[in-house]
Amino acid sequence: MKYCVIPEPYRFEIKSSDIVFDIFDETAFEAEPSAEKSFNSLISFLEEFFTVYPSGLAKGKIRLEISGKGESEGYSLKVERGRVLLSGNDEKGLFYAVQTLKQLLFCGDGKLTEIEIEDKPRFRVRGFMLDCARHFFSVEAVKQFIDMMAFHKLNEFHWHLSDDQGFRCQLEGKLLLTEIGSYRSNTNFNNEPHEGYYTKADIKEIVDYAHNRYIKVIPEIDSPGHVMAMLAAYPELACFLQDYSVSTFWGIKHDVLCVGKESTFEFMQELFDELTDIFTDGVIHLGGDEVPTVRWESCPHCQKRMKDEGLTSEEELHTYYLDRMATYLRNKGTDVRMWNDRVKEKMVDKSVTWQLWNGEMNEQDVVKELNDGRKFVISCGDYYYLSFPYALTSLEKCYNFEPVFDGLTEEGEKNILGTEACLWTEFVPDMITADKMTYPRIAAICESAWSMKDKKNFDLFKEKLGSYYGILGETGINAAPLKKTSPEGIKKLAGKIYWKRRSLYWGAHHNIMSDIRVKRILNETKKENENNESYTDA
Ligand code: ACM
Ligand code: ZN
Repeated sequence: MKYCVIPEPYRFEIKSSDIVFDIFDETAFEAEPSAEKSFNSLISFLEEFFTVYPSGLAKGKIRLEISGKGESEGYSLKVERGRVLLSGNDEKGLFYAVQTLKQLLFCGDGKLTEIEIEDKPRFRVRGFMLDCARHFFSVEAVKQFIDMMAFHKLNEFHWHLSDDQGFRCQLEGKLLLTEIGSYRSNTNFNNEPHEGYYTKADIKEIVDYAHNRYIKVIPEIDSPGHVMAMLAAYPELACFLQDYSVSTFWGIKHDVLCVGKESTFEFMQELFDELTDIFTDGVIHLGGDEVPTVRWESCPHCQKRMKDEGLTSEEELHTYYLDRMATYLRNKGTDVRMWNDRVKEKMVDKSVTWQLWNGEMNEQDVVKELNDGRKFVISCGDYYYLSFPYALTSLEKCYNFEPVFDGLTEEGEKNILGTEACLWTEFVPDMITADKMTYPRIAAICESAWSMKDKKNFDLFKEKLGSYYGILGETGINAAPLKKTSPEGIKKLAGKIYWKRRSLYWGAHHNIMSDIRVKRILNETKKENENNESYTDA
C-alpha cells in the first residue's frame, strides 16, 4: 500500500503490508471529552467520504487520547490489528493526528496496514492569508479555506480585511467604514459594482469555526497606507479634506492617513479597541506596507508632528505612527504583526513581529535583525504569494524555498516563527480562480512549515500529489492541473509578459489626479492665508 501524507510526517513506518484495519468493520470509538473537536472532525470526514457512521463507544477500536506529554502539536498514530490509536501530546496534536488518519484512510480506501507515525511541526506559525478587501469572499468560502487550512495542518488565518478597494469588517463604533467603505462602483472600469462585508455575527461565526480547528484568526486593518476605503467613509482622517472614493483599481495610492492630527490616533485606537474585542486570539496585524510620503511632505499637521517629535524625515514619521499604534496595542496585551516595510529608519519596537514579504530588506538586514532579537514570519513574495502566476512561481520553486537563512545564530533561527502563504486577490475574483492559485502550492508551503528540512524532497512530494488531487476533487476544489504548475519555455515567457502587462494597470493615473486636487487645495489655502494677512495688515 502506498500512503501519501502531506505534510510529510517526522517519522513514518509501515510495519507490515497486510491489511489489519478496515473502517467499514471497526467504527466504534473511544474518546475522552477533551478530544471532542478532533472526534467531530473525524466523524464528519467518515460520514462525507465513506458514508460510515460511528457505531457507538467501545474500548480500544478507534481511540482518541491526549497524553499531556511532549511538544505542543505533536502526536503519535498507530494502526494495529483491529484498532487505531491516536495520541496527541495536547488537544492540537490529537487534531493533527486525525488529519493524518483522514489521508491514510483516503489512500487505503478505508483499509490500513500496520503503521506507526510520530509527528511534530517544524515551525509553530503556519499561516495562510486571504485578502477579502480586493474581492469579497462569502462566509461559506472563508470556511472552506479554514477547513483546508486544518487539512494542511496550518494554524493561523491572517484575514486582510481592509484596503484601498474595500473595508470589510463591521465595527459598531464606526459603521460608515462598512456602509460606505465596503462598496466600489466598478473594478478596473468594468462597470460592475463590487461590495460585501462581514457582520459582527459573520465574524463570530468564522472565528468560532477556526477555533474549532485550532486556528487562530489574525485580522489586518492596513494603515497608514492602503486606506482609501476608510477615507471615503471618514475623509477627516486624511491630510487634506476633500471627497474620497473607494478605489476602483489597483496600485499604491498617495492618499494615506494624516498622522499629524491627534484625532487620527484617537480614531484608530477606538477602532482597535473594538477589533480586539471581536478577535480574541490576542494578535493584530497593523499592515504598515507601501506608504508614500508625498502628502505628509505638504501637510501642516504632519510637518508640525515631525518638528514636535524631532523626526528628521517622513519615513521616520511612518515609523512613529506604527510604533505608537503598536505600543497602544501591546499595552492592551495584544501581540502585533506588521509588514516589513521601512526598515532602515528608526526601527519599530523589537516586540513587533515582522512579516517578510518584499525585497526592500536584503537578506543581510533580515539576518541581522533576527540575530538582534526581532521575530519574523516568512512570506517572501516570489515564493509564497499565491497570487503570483505559476509562470513566476512554479510549484517546484515554491516547494524548494528554504525559509531559514544562512548566517543565523541559534537565537536568530528561533526568531523565525514560521511561514505564511498569502492569497492577494486583485486578480482573484472568485473561488474557481482562488482554488487554481492556492492548490497545490499551499501543499508545498505547508510541507516547508510543518515537515523537517531533511524530509523535504520535491520528487517524493510530486508522487504524493495523485492522492492529494483525489482528496481535493472529492472536496469540490478545482486545483491547478499539475502540468500547469511548472510552465516552461514559451508558456513561461507568455505568463510572465501577461502578468507584467496586467501590472501596468496599477497605480499612476489615480495618483496624478489626486495630486492635482491636493495642489489646488494647497494653493487655495495659501491664497486665503495671503488674503487674511493683507486684511490683517490693513
Ligand atoms: C504587500 O504585498 N504589500 C504586503
Ligand atoms: Zn497630515
